[in-house]
Amino acid sequence: MDLKKKIDNIATKTAAAVANSLSQDETKRETDGGDVDADVSALFRSAAAEGAVLLENNGVLPLKENSRVALFGITSYQTHFVGYGSGGDVNKPYAVSIADGIRNCGRLTLDENIASFYNDYNEKNPINHGFWAHWPFYYPEAGLDIDFVRRSSFNNDTAVVTIGRSAGEDRDCKNDKGSWLLADDEADMLDKVTAKYDNVIVLLNIGGIFDLSWLRRYKSKIGAVLIIWQGGMESGNAAADILCGKVCPSGKLTDTIANSIDDYPSSKNFGDKDFTFYKEDIYVGYRYFETFAKNKVVYPFGYGLSYTTFDIKKTGAKKTDSGFEFKIKVTNTGRYTGRQTVEIYLEKPCEPLGEPALVLTAFKKTGDLKPGESETVTLISDDYALCSYDDEGVTGYKNCYVINKGEFAFYMGENVRDVKKILTYYNENTVLYDKKEQVCAPKKEFDIMAAKKLGDSTVVSYKKAVVNSTDLRQRIISARPESIPQTGDRGYKLSFVKSGKCTMREFIAQLDNDELEAISRGDYTMNSPLGAKGNAGVFGGVLESLRDKGVMPVTTTDGPSGIRLSAQCSLLPCGTLLACTFNPDTVEKVYSAVAKEMKKRGSDVLLAPGMNIHRNPLCGRNFEYYSEDPLVAGKIAAAAVRGIQSEGASACPKHFACNNQEFRRNMNDSVVSERALREIYLKGFEICVKEGEPKSIMTSYNKVNSVYSHYNYDLCTAVLRSEWRYKGNVMTDWWMKKGKSPEFKNMSDQAYRVTAQVDVLMPGGSRGQNRTPDGTMLKSLKKKDGITLGEMQRTAENVLNLILDIKY
Ligand code: BGC
Repeated sequence: MDLKKKIDNIATKTAAAVANSLSQDETKRETDGGDVDADVSALFRSAAAEGAVLLENNGVLPLKENSRVALFGITSYQTHFVGYGSGGDVNKPYAVSIADGIRNCGRLTLDENIASFYNDYNEKNPINHGFWAHWPFYYPEAGLDIDFVRRSSFNNDTAVVTIGRSAGEDRDCKNDKGSWLLADDEADMLDKVTAKYDNVIVLLNIGGIFDLSWLRRYKSKIGAVLIIWQGGMESGNAAADILCGKVCPSGKLTDTIANSIDDYPSSKNFGDKDFTFYKEDIYVGYRYFETFAKNKVVYPFGYGLSYTTFDIKKTGAKKTDSGFEFKIKVTNTGRYTGRQTVEIYLEKPCEPLGEPALVLTAFKKTGDLKPGESETVTLISDDYALCSYDDEGVTGYKNCYVINKGEFAFYMGENVRDVKKILTYYNENTVLYDKKEQVCAPKKEFDIMAAKKLGDSTVVSYKKAVVNSTDLRQRIISARPESIPQTGDRGYKLSFVKSGKCTMREFIAQLDNDELEAISRGDYTMNSPLGAKGNAGVFGGVLESLRDKGVMPVTTTDGPSGIRLSAQCSLLPCGTLLACTFNPDTVEKVYSAVAKEMKKRGSDVLLAPGMNIHRNPLCGRNFEYYSEDPLVAGKIAAAAVRGIQSEGASACPKHFACNNQEFRRNMNDSVVSERALREIYLKGFEICVKEGEPKSIMTSYNKVNSVYSHYNYDLCTAVLRSEWRYKGNVMTDWWMKKGKSPEFKNMSDQAYRVTAQVDVLMPGGSRGQNRTPDGTMLKSLKKKDGITLGEMQRTAENVLNLILDIKY
């Protein structure tokens, strides 16, 4: 290694030590017992292939049997299996690069001469993975000699070029070359390979969408473009399965790919250090593009090609008592066995609230269809989907879900752009569907985007967001729980509640204030000695006196791409990929396999799924999350939850809510209208809670409308528990920001949090703090305008119910 590299390495290590003391360390690695069941590998391989999205194909794919493949691009050999940070840091037992996948495939021959060139390069230039929040966005290319490329072309049929990107927690991507944009060395590689090869396939090894405007430059020189995403430990095998035609692509985009980052309406309001004004309001992703800017789209939402072709016909469409039912017959009219997703979109009357041109309202994927075979799928859209949330009162029903007067049209299609009308429903009068109270409305005045009809076209206009006018203090006081008279220890164990020997109320009555305090926080540190090595933190039985009463410690582990422990655990495909399967069944199966592993490894709560909306393509954690669309995010998350909880453990959907930017995520205030919250940013969580019934939920780091999520009564009590009937436990994201309640002068930090029913502070203390409570809860107890015993006991009940559920 030369001197410069040595100095770089020392600098990186020093900076990493400083950064890790302020954030999370990488999990310590063990190398034993990483055996993975062959069935699990096969399942992850097929899931990774199912989420791959074919963007272009001039017929070069699938590759003919025995094709000789020239494989270029550093990430073909040093594949990005997942992104960085807590959502990626899994101690995986193995991972198959794209090169190895092609070698394993059995139907293709890899050019080993090119492979050795890259291996030599990698040995001399090992990848610098950086450190927490300073991970690389891409790996610099090896630099190709044109003669080398030319000579290689004599021996090969096809060139496959991989372009890779990564991102991670605590840092957003940048609108720069090598992050959102193609790097110069990548362009150089593409120039040379396309100059010497007739058949060029581009693989995109990415965690979220990135700029593809450069594809236009190469036009017909690139025969096929396949997004393989970051496919977890089976990445390379899955990619090869599609290349060689063992698997027919069936993934669909869960985001719109537009011409430029500036085309996304959120881009103007992304990346500020203090405030993120969600000015685009409900017009996120395709809701914006299909309404106002169709010509800015390169690949529409829901788009993805197949090797085969399908005929999609409506065979039935009717109104039912509670919604609409569609029967759609899908026939494979091509030459390959494959599967297709049917998407149903809804157009609502634009006036008086302003509506997106189309909104996804149902989707369903067929099973494998052989050439000539058909399947009729049934899709349901309920009446709730017809509703809009009126936070202004323009429909006559302020703070209500209403079904507006006018024509509702349903469309079916293979993506949002290619749709056909299949049913029209006329609603004679505006109907009040559900009356709500104003919750979590903005405190700041700002303008939001609105759609206005102008003749036949719809144009952008702006209006003022409705600001908060409720009295939160009164609402909290009027809903306060009664306290349970404290009895002292009466010898009841937690298991007695299960067996009926005592009630939960009697059990809680025994807990003294210190125990109530302890139950509302973790055991202070990550990697708690009370749990499996490398855990994210432990809560529940964190005091001996609690354990004596049978309150067991509960071990939490990350996360979305697999269990993050010192022990080796399976690495899943990234969130975006899983969502692009458009197949909740697949996602449920994948997480059911994780659930079995959790049991073996000693994890009680998986800190997953990550399900924030892809508001802007530059968000650093998009790879963990699912989609710009809340229905997709919600359905996929619900499936993940069902899988994780299939063996009794708890899932923990996160980050509730509006963690749509990593930059200064601990400081940033997401300023957003109540309508956009309800229809976009909370909607996925609502679906997940109602359909998946998670036992835990994690709040986000950021503020939502001026209040940190971990103090947000409106989010965590009014919406989550009162409206959605959530029964589980809510925990903070790791180390919360301190704060004082504006409503109650004697409440700050832990008292403020528990009043909002954010039950557990994780991992328990502040960073670097001694292993003692910060005192803010008990100091507030019994003071005028302080926390009440009843509120502390209510939180204890939320936590104990979870423990009973997962441990007994
Ligand atoms: C992340 C969470 C994660 C937690 C524990 C935080 O930095 O935001 O998603 O679950 O750490 O690792």
